[in-house]
Amino acid sequence: PVLVVDFGAQYAQLIARRVREASVYSEIVPHTVTAEEVRAKNPIGIVLSGGPSSVYEQGAPQLDPEVLELGVPTLGICYGFQVMAQHFGGEVAQTGQREYGATHANVVDAEGNALLVDQPAGQTVWMSHGDSVARAPEGFEVLASTESTPVAAFANDERKLYGVQWHPEVKHTPFGQGIIENFLHRAAGIPADWNSGNVIAEQVARIREQVGDARVISALSGGVDSAVSTALVQRAVGEQLTAVFVDHGLLRKGEREQVQQDYVAATGVRLVTVDAADTFLDALAGVTDPEEKRKIIGREFIRAFEAAERDLLAEAAADGTPIKFLVQGTLYPDVVESGGGAGTANIKSHHNVGGLPEDLQFELVEPLRTLFKDEVRAIGRELGLPEAIVGRQPFPGPGLGIRIVGEVTRDRLDLLREADAIAREELSRAGLDQEIWQCPVVLLADVRSVGVQGDGRTYGHPIVLRPVSSEDAMTADWTRLPYDVLAKISNRITNEVREVNRVVLDVTSKPPGTIEWE
Ligand code: XMP
Repeated sequence: PVLVVDFGAQYAQLIARRVREASVYSEIVPHTVTAEEVRAKNPIGIVLSGGPSSVYEQGAPQLDPEVLELGVPTLGICYGFQVMAQHFGGEVAQTGQREYGATHANVVDAEGNALLVDQPAGQTVWMSHGDSVARAPEGFEVLASTESTPVAAFANDERKLYGVQWHPEVKHTPFGQGIIENFLHRAAGIPADWNSGNVIAEQVARIREQVGDARVISALSGGVDSAVSTALVQRAVGEQLTAVFVDHGLLRKGEREQVQQDYVAATGVRLVTVDAADTFLDALAGVTDPEEKRKIIGREFIRAFEAAERDLLAEAAADGTPIKFLVQGTLYPDVVESGGGAGTANIKSHHNVGGLPEDLQFELVEPLRTLFKDEVRAIGRELGLPEAIVGRQPFPGPGLGIRIVGEVTRDRLDLLREADAIAREELSRAGLDQEIWQCPVVLLADVRSVGVQGDGRTYGHPIVLRPVSSEDAMTADWTRLPYDVLAKISNRITNEVREVNRVVLDVTSKPPGTIEWE
């Protein structure tokens, strides 16, 4: 792999993704990694990420100096660039002056160096640093400068060491991806040969090795991650796999059919559907508190899954092949973030379908552990999964249960399902699926307002549209939808959905509002 050394800022994940976009496999390691550990991973390249603004800062993250002496081609970015400069005997000056934002850089030698192939001599780059490299180390050629930073990039071709003060991984640096690709392909000579085809072959082999002859179960939610991880296991050990789909009655229109028909047709997986709508709705009767709803849904999900599991265990006992494994759709960011260990406040107790009880007696099969979401989608497509599943926007585990403000009842779910289907249909028709991260449609079941329809007075419920744009759901902005699309959705919902006489638009970013209403 190419190792991305994380100095604690938020850039490491982005860098790892950009490296993979260049068709090179990357892994993130903490800056506390030892040279021994690095060597054990057999890296073909190293990228040092950005970090705090100064190498002189108290408690500034250090790197085992030996890592820089392993003879592995290395690119230092921002803080990583300064770490390199300092290590090889250059001078890092505490200027006390911060260079931040879009900056004009003069690339000194636009032709000669591998790092600079196809880089314009003058270009805009994104800067965010306090200290500056005042003098490049001996044997390093200065490749770029800005008005306030004399050494903004350098290279030592002989030792294959490179560095840039700016952030090539962010979109605000228009030629940034070119720098990363030049480093990987031209300077370090790493081929662009990592793609979804390889990942599938590699994971299939790995799953076969892990699972052997044992049986495997998987919980399907209809979401992308569980769909793709299950499909990979199906490809690897299909005969031994049973997928369990719990229909909790809180799904959107067409979702159950999508899993039962389209998904099964595409993968050939053996599917057990648990019909648990009655149980869930009984348990939710009279409950209006959002946290209580989440807890009930989480608990009932586990119960439903365990019931299915008992049947499967009995079946497995009968023919002597034990169930030993459970498939989980854990993604790379979850792995990296849980390694980070920083506690975050519990804003909402997220319930994940797939968030199964901790005392399950199974080993986990997690074929997506090294992948980012967009890679998971690419693999899903390569595996032949329907676009409606692979391209699906996020949908919370507790489903429509947390999109009815008030008690969850069958009637209300029916109303909301209709309204949601209309909104989704019109947004897709208008070609807005890419622009929108997700668009919760919420029924304010405890609110009524007066309306007029035909000649009559109505006294109905409002529906809220909550279209948001986001990168990762941690923050979000409300999507500026075209008025004609909003008008169409509003007309259709008020005409076609009984008891709804008003459609309102949520124009709140996150923070302060969360994406969901509950
Ligand atoms: P919030 O409402 O916290 O949502 O801004 C952030 C993202 O998480 C989804 N979400 C959930 N997903 N179980 C899930 O699997 C949950 O309990 C849950 N609650 C919120 C939400 O749809 C958005 O994508």
